[in-house]
Amino acid sequence: MPPDALQGKIMKRLTQSGALAVAALSLSVTSSHAADAKNGQVLAKKCTVCHGKIGVSNDPEVPNLAGQSAFYIEKALKDYRQGTREDRRMTLMAKPLEDADIKDLAAWYASIKFTAEAPE
Ligand code: HEC
Repeated sequence: MPPDALQGKIMKRLTQSGALAVAALSLSVTSSHAADAKNGQVLAKKCTVCHGKIGVSNDPEVPNLAGQSAFYIEKALKDYRQGTREDRRMTLMAKPLEDADIKDLAAWYASIKFTAEAPE
């Protein structure tokens, strides 16, 4: 077999096993998802118009999310998604979110440092 053909064969093998590895990886991600704040930051691009770039809102009707606990954010998003909490904007935003997206979004907002200071 000419070396080129051999190389082609090896590359094909590698690509196939690579695809398998990726498939196995995504399977393990869906079964037990470790929250990924970096991915949450990417997903949060569609939230920034209302909640601000780092979860601090300028709109008095929109709550801050920066530094909020991941537990609370996750619960709020699931409540909107299933309709136990309703808001015309948030119900729309939460409907298409997968559990893994919610975990990542919650991890992102929870990871933002936010400090509070009591008035003098
Ligand atoms: C069109 C504006 C808008 C967009 C876009 C939006 N939100 Fe909201 N969000 C709101 C408003 C308004 C509320 C308060 C609703 C209420 O009173 O329940 C809210 C509430 C929330 C809450 C509950 C906060 C609390 O303190 O109880 C969470 C969590 C949240 N949003 C996350 C998100 C995430 C994550 C995205 C992006 C996927 C997003 N929002 C996109 C307007 C928006």
